[in-house]
Amino acid sequence: MARIPTPSAADKFSFGLWTVDWTGQDQFGSAARPRFDPVEVVWKLKEIGAWGITFHDDDLIPFGSSPGERDAILARFTKALDETGIVVEMVTTNTFSHPIFKDGAFTSNDRRVRRFGLAKVLANVDLAAELGAETFVMWGGREGAEYDTSKDYFAALSRYAEGIDTVAAYIKDKGYGLKIALEPKPNEPRGDILLPTVGHALAFIERLEHKDIVGLNPEVGHEQMACLNYTAGIAQALWAGKLFHIDLNGQKSIKFDQDLVFGHGDLLSAFGTVDLLENGFPGGGPRYDGPRHFDYKPSRTEDPAQVWQTAGANMEMYLLLKERAVAFRADPAVREAVERAGVTELGEPTLAPGETLAEFLADPTVYRQADPAALAERGYGFVQLNQLAIEFLMGAR
Ligand code: GCO
Ligand code: MN
Ligand code: MN
Repeated sequence: MARIPTPSAADKFSFGLWTVDWTGQDQFGSAARPRFDPVEVVWKLKEIGAWGITFHDDDLIPFGSSPGERDAILARFTKALDETGIVVEMVTTNTFSHPIFKDGAFTSNDRRVRRFGLAKVLANVDLAAELGAETFVMWGGREGAEYDTSKDYFAALSRYAEGIDTVAAYIKDKGYGLKIALEPKPNEPRGDILLPTVGHALAFIERLEHKDIVGLNPEVGHEQMACLNYTAGIAQALWAGKLFHIDLNGQKSIKFDQDLVFGHGDLLSAFGTVDLLENGFPGGGPRYDGPRHFDYKPSRTEDPAQVWQTAGANMEMYLLLKERAVAFRADPAVREAVERAGVTELGEPTLAPGETLAEFLADPTVYRQADPAALAERGYGFVQLNQLAIEFLMGAR
């Protein structure tokens, strides 16, 4: 009596072309699967219930293609999009594969490389706009260093900001509706990558001239590689009005970037993420209503047919977690535990409406006459609330 949910376009699930199309080539082994034809990928995504596709310029149009080859590839691809209704919701640029980018694109020590990288990105902005994408992701995988002596970090951050601001200015100048979403990652392929976490990237954005159209594309595994809490990270991005896109996948603790199926890493954390995405903050606030985008790798052990099962597994995990998270929030016992834990009480401002700082300081009951021991007596019942969440997650309730 399995209850396996079926995805539909309304769920807004999207996949990177580079995800299902990963051949399994890694540091230690050659390709274990052939590449798919991008047109076949579009049709397959339609068949399994996805809504959108995303890609790096080079995933679709191989680096160095002639204008004629480019046009022919795009004509076939857009025909498949028209016929299936699959949407290109996001486009991103490969500024990491070609050896020209060995020291980065926007932050390479070589100014000629920086200019080449900027031009490649701007050309891809045009393509993104042409295909109707809403988000332009920028993952600076090679923007970083292995050795502190090799990089002037002040200059690198200045060049990074210059690059992003130039792209943003170009988008505005052209009247494109695109928004830029920076994707943090702590390391891999560089020893240390600039903008390593959500927090670093949020602080960086604040110093940009065109910060209004620059936000984030946080990836589950990347925050977890830095031993951080993904749900708390996207929560802060939402609080800052900067959650423009998301990369969902799975990661088991601090190690290489695993890009597992969503929920196949830290399942309880995935539950928290879906709870936030689907139910919002307990006391209300900004919501994420963008694509549910998967950036995972079908394990090298899988054959081409099994690749599509792994893609389906991402959507199934999301929908199962959604069903569990919605049931959890609707349950009266949970509501009671949430109240007891003070979760909703936190939404109340600490100062009373209209209360001045002088009035606050003059109130002796707050501090001078307060009884710390009595205040410390309260039990919050967080463990019971968490246990309820796990009981829902495990289908016990
Ligand atoms: C990774 C990254 C990349 C980026 C992608 C977008 O696994 O390190 O997720 O896959 O998301 O390149 O530019
Ligand atoms: Mn990754
Ligand atoms: Mn990613």
